[in-house]
Amino acid sequence: MQRALAFSMPSEERLGDGVMLLRHFATARQSQLIAELDLIVSAAPFRNMETPGGFRMSVAMTNCGAAGWVTDRRGYRYEAHDPATGLPWPPMPAVFAALALEAAARAGFDGFTPDSCLINRYAPGASLSPHQDRNERDFSQPIVSVSLGLPALFLFGGPTRAERPRRLTLEHGDVVVWGGPARLAFHGVAKLADGAHTLVGRLRYNLTFRKAL
Ligand code: SIN
Ligand code: FE2
Repeated sequence: MQRALAFSMPSEERLGDGVMLLRHFATARQSQLIAELDLIVSAAPFRNMETPGGFRMSVAMTNCGAAGWVTDRRGYRYEAHDPATGLPWPPMPAVFAALALEAAARAGFDGFTPDSCLINRYAPGASLSPHQDRNERDFSQPIVSVSLGLPALFLFGGPTRAERPRRLTLEHGDVVVWGGPARLAFHGVAKLADGAHTLVGRLRYNLTFRKAL
């Protein structure tokens, strides 16, 4: 009990100018987050999207909020409607928006009101190559990233591909916030190792909150 408690205690680590790692910040809300996630996915199912270059992504994705991030042969962009169903993306649950607002504030970004949450699902073997989040209109707004399920090796680099990325193991409940001078940092996720998470099973989910519009 003592041990389990110690592992789930929230802690904060400033990783650099504009970058904050909030360990276990989301853990207390795990059940609500997963229940809302299930509802979103029943309305807007996960799908493996195609890159403009014609590659099928190994990470399955869906969205909630006013704008959803999509990619296909025509490019990367935000869309108000889910191309798979033609319907608006499911609304952002209050527990999602509150978590993102509070996490951003802990990192020094007050008043964060995301209008988009990209939901990534990683099965063992899935990975995300290094990229910048730059399809949003206003780079003064941070990115808030919430991890659930299996641990992943997160590669967090600098403003160009040249900087050697920091390697962080993100666990269930961990939140990373980056913004300001770090807003356009390159980041990616190494191939997910197999495992079993008590709540989530053989998967990792990542919720990425953005102010897209
Ligand atoms: C992303 O960059 O969209 C996702 C990052 C992650 O899965 O941790
Ligand atoms: Fe990203």
